[in-house]
Amino acid sequence: MKKITIAIDGYSSCGKSTMAKDLAREIGYVYVDSGAMYRAVTLYALDNHIMQDGHIDEERLKQEIESIEISFQFNPERGRPDTYLNGTRVEDRIRTLEVSNHVSHIAALGFVRENMVRQQQRMGQQGGIIMDGRDIGTTVFPNAELKIFVTASAEIRAQRRYDELTAKGEQCDMQEILHNVEERDYIDTHRDISPLRQAEDALVLDNSHMTIEEQKQWLLDAFHKTVGE
Ligand code: DC
Repeated sequence: MKKITIAIDGYSSCGKSTMAKDLAREIGYVYVDSGAMYRAVTLYALDNHIMQDGHIDEERLKQEIESIEISFQFNPERGRPDTYLNGTRVEDRIRTLEVSNHVSHIAALGFVRENMVRQQQRMGQQGGIIMDGRDIGTTVFPNAELKIFVTASAEIRAQRRYDELTAKGEQCDMQEILHNVEERDYIDTHRDISPLRQAEDALVLDNSHMTIEEQKQWLLDAFHKTVGE
C-alpha cells in the first residue's frame, strides 16, 4: 500500500507529539518532531553565546547554520526518536524552560526556517512520515494527503506543560508557564515567515476535553478514511 504523508500542526503544548508518535507506532511510519529541530538550533545558539540577554548575533548564526547537524535516533525505551545535535544527545536539554523561552525568536528567523524546511523535506521524500510542527501542512508538505490542525485552550495547555515539567523534577511556576504558552502562541501566529495557521484542507482537532485514548482513535479513524480502508 502507498505510504502517505501526514502533517500535524497546531499550538504549543497541545499534545501533538504524543499523538503523532503513537500513530506512527501504530501504523509503522517514521515520526519527526520538527519543533525539536528549532529547539536544537536554540540550544546551539545559547551554548555558543550566539544568543545572549535576548539578543541574537544573526550574522554568526547565519555563518554557522550549515554546520549545525540535527539528527534523530529511535530510542526503544521511550518509544520515540531522541534528538541529536552535532552527534550529542540533547533530548532532555532542548525541553528545558530556558530553551522554551527562547525558541520562538530563533524559529522566526528566515534563514533558520529555510535550512530546517529543506532538511524536513529531505526526510519526507519517501512518504510514510508523520511530522508535527507549525508549518508542516502549509509550507513543508503542502501536498500532504492528511493534515491535522490541533488546538486546545491556553490554560489547559499550560497545565499539561506544568505537569510534564514537575514530573521531571523541574521547579516551575504556573503563571510563568501560562505566560510562556501565550507568548509563544502570539509569536508563532504573528511572525512574518510561515506563521502558524490552519491549512485550508486540514481537519481540526480540539482536544481540550479529550483523553489520550479518544485522540488516538480519532486520529486512527482519520488515517483509515484517508487511505480508504
Ligand atoms: O512544538 P514545540 O513547542 O517543541 O516547538 C518549539 C518552537 O518551534 C515553537 O515556538 C514553534 C517553533 N516551530 C516552528 O516555528 N515551526 C515548526 N515546524 C515547529 C516548531
